[in-house]
Amino acid sequence: MNNMFVLSKHKDLLLNILEKYGTPLYVYFTDIIKERIMNLKEILDQNFENYLIAYACKACSLLYICKYISSFGLGAEVVSDGELYIALKAGFERNKIVFDGVSKSDYEIKYALSQDIYTINCESFDEVKVISSIAEGLGMDVNIGLRVNPEIKLQTHNYLKTGTKYNKFGIDFNDAIMILDLINKIKNVKLKGFHFHLGSNIKSPEPFIVAIDKISKLIHLAFKKGYKIEYLDIGGGIPILSNKEGLHNYLFPILEFIRKKLLSNVEDLRIILEPGRSIVGDSAVLLTRVNYVKNVDKRKWILIDAGMNDLIRPALYGVFHPIECLSCVSNRIENYSIGGPICESSDVFAKDIKLPTVRRGDILAFLRVGAYGISMSSNYNSRRRPAVVVIENNNFRLIKRRENLEDLISNEIV
Ligand code: LLP
Repeated sequence: MNNMFVLSKHKDLLLNILEKYGTPLYVYFTDIIKERIMNLKEILDQNFENYLIAYACKACSLLYICKYISSFGLGAEVVSDGELYIALKAGFERNKIVFDGVSKSDYEIKYALSQDIYTINCESFDEVKVISSIAEGLGMDVNIGLRVNPEIKLQTHNYLKTGTKYNKFGIDFNDAIMILDLINKIKNVKLKGFHFHLGSNIKSPEPFIVAIDKISKLIHLAFKKGYKIEYLDIGGGIPILSNKEGLHNYLFPILEFIRKKLLSNVEDLRIILEPGRSIVGDSAVLLTRVNYVKNVDKRKWILIDAGMNDLIRPALYGVFHPIECLSCVSNRIENYSIGGPICESSDVFAKDIKLPTVRRGDILAFLRVGAYGISMSSNYNSRRRPAVVVIENNNFRLIKRRENLEDLISNEIV
């Protein structure tokens, strides 16, 4: 099952829903989320006894979606007090919540400590010291992990690389070795694991293997120094893989390497994964209405009612989200570019693509927008953020209403 399939299956229903809730409108299909979770669980079950899937809430932190995901027993990866708050509201178990983040503020650390979550992955020795002193103030001991930068060469968009040399994330490998001699001097901090996150949308499994090979040296060293390491957290980054076979082919070399390289020596090591995109990416479409079709020089522009504030990925990363016309009736195919209503030249979704003849009022669907779509939306140009509907077992329900004009100023003080 994928985005295209559910789109054609529910075409009439979608056009009805639009009448009710208007556009732009995000529509999530929970059946796809379920399928992706089941596929991942099945593959992990075949390989590990002790693992945790910590869903990366940043991909889509809608409460309803998070609740749905937590109902499968998954954990959560959070990177702010807001995500932690939502994760708790969504029912993720505390001992399955991992707190990451490159620049955690004191109030976030305090909140995380007070919520008794599984672990905080630290990105510097200074952070370890800050956590220790905040925990001391609360009279607590704290479990932490170290996020190490494996400095791997990667193939993905430059903005989506985090585990490469010279970026702000994680701790240098050699510094991590030094830190191992310092952490055991801090009484209330227990080092329980290691973490890396290479980046997002990592095209092939090889970089994971190189990174695990590197980090396993640290794990062995930590054991030698007397630390009781409980987990290895390999972060997120799995791309959207629509079928089980594709996911299996991607994951199997990674999981097999972990089993041979690590689990044969370190029994009971818990393997944590932090997938975001691979779970929700393919589970939503963004529906938008055509306001105008106009010619500028030789280009035919479709101007729609969704903007980069609703879906920023094309403007920010230059990525293309496949586009379908739900209402077009013509058999003629034409060349179009697609732009939004925002006063920026980057508010463009596609250039020179082919679609059946499009007219004012037609409905277009952007596919595969379930991850980092609604979660990166904003109010830029004082636009109201869109409504969100879920389709579940052929029924639909509104899970987020469209913002109204009052919402735009509701927290302002004049
Ligand atoms: N863990 C950590 C520490 C992360 O920073 C991220 C994503 C994930 C897990 C989840 O990665 P995923 O499985 O979704 O690849 N806005 C960009 C993606 C940024 C990802 C940031 N970190 C986009 O629209 O493609």
